[in-house]
Amino acid sequence: MDRRYVVAAGLVGLLILLSVFIHLITNNKIVIGYNKDYAPDQPIPFSHEIHAGEFKVDCQYCHAGASVSRHATVPSLNICMNCHLTVNGRTDEGKKHVERLREAFNNNEPIEWKKVHLLPDHVKFNHAAHIAKGKACQTCHGPVETMEKVYQWSSLSMGWCVNCHREPENNAPINCSTCHY
Ligand code: HEC
Ligand code: HEC
Ligand code: HEC
Ligand code: HEC
Ligand code: HEC
Repeated sequence: MDRRYVVAAGLVGLLILLSVFIHLITNNKIVIGYNKDYAPDQPIPFSHEIHAGEFKVDCQYCHAGASVSRHATVPSLNICMNCHLTVNGRTDEGKKHVERLREAFNNNEPIEWKKVHLLPDHVKFNHAAHIAKGKACQTCHGPVETMEKVYQWSSLSMGWCVNCHREPENNAPINCSTCHY
């Protein structure tokens, strides 16, 4: 067969694939990195509304990493047990969940919380740097203290990060290597 036909057929094939890809992306059939509103089921339902809202437990009592490291971190069972050795649940369901917490604690089994937020591996993010500049958790995570079930409130898209870095009062870096490995 004439090589030119092979090349032409190859190019047509590529164009078709590309247009299918663009179609899928623009119609949100493939979502790259944008998991706004994502709220996976957790092994034990945990209500921020009760803990951070009603009882006003400080965010950093449980997410102690936020002001000192890249990761805010999710609390270990020890922290829950500071209260739940004595505090029972409120509803029948809740009481069962607190019983499960105690069992897990006594058996030394960690609770496998599902990640809600997850940036792609090529992106650098650092909680401590943002907290040091006085950014409240809610600026990026929304009104978590009202959330019965926590969900991803921001898009976490590159545009979202860069728009805030560009605000004159932030004067934050926008060169590629600030945020990318
Ligand atoms: C009593 C402990 C406790 C307090 C107080 C608390 N959290 Fe949490 N937080 C958790 C636990 C446990 C999880 C993991 C389970 C879940 O996602 O619901 C979590 C999950 C999260 C997540 C999602 C993490 C992920 O996987 O992406 C965010 C964001 C968050 N908390 C923000 C906050 C903010 C903001 C506050 C204060 C308004 C706060 N939390 C107060 C215990 C706490
Ligand atoms: C400038 C925006 C911003 C602020 C302010 C912020 N976060 Fe986050 N948070 C993020 C992003 C982005 C991620 C996802 C990080 C990743 O995937 O590496 C995240 C992830 C988390 C997680 C999941 C575990 C982790 O560290 O990856 C928790 C918990 C959390 N944030 C809690 C908090 C709390 C509590 C505060 C306030 C003390 C706070 N965040 C302030 C943007 C922010
Ligand atoms: C500062 C104290 C404190 C800490 C720390 C704490 N809790 Fe609670 N928790 C409470 C209180 C108070 C209640 C409500 C009890 C009531 O109203 O009877 C509660 C209720 C609950 C309930 C039952 C909800 C319902 O609907 O009945 C669960 C489940 C729960 N907490 C899980 C956790 C987990 C998981 C952790 C650790 C990540 C944790 N708690 C850490 C104080 C705390
Ligand atoms: C609410 C505004 C805001 C948002 C949203 C935001 N940033 Fe920032 N960012 C800042 C500010 C303010 C600084 C601190 C600049 C300084 O230290 O002078 C900063 C600094 C940084 C730094 C430098 C940290 C260091 O160690 O010096 C990185 C990296 C960064 N941001 C990444 C991100 C990424 C990635 C996102 C999105 C996932 C993001 N930021 C979203 C405001 C924001
Ligand atoms: C303030 C932080 C920030 C800066 C500055 C930044 N990026 Fe990003 N970038 C991100 C985040 C967060 C993502 C992941 C979310 C997304 O794809 O929108 C991303 C994603 C990307 C992607 C992958 C898109 C995909 O489909 O996965 C490329 C390519 C990229 N950035 C290139 C750049 C280049 C080139 C620059 C410099 C001109 C730059 N970025 C500057 C935060 C940043």
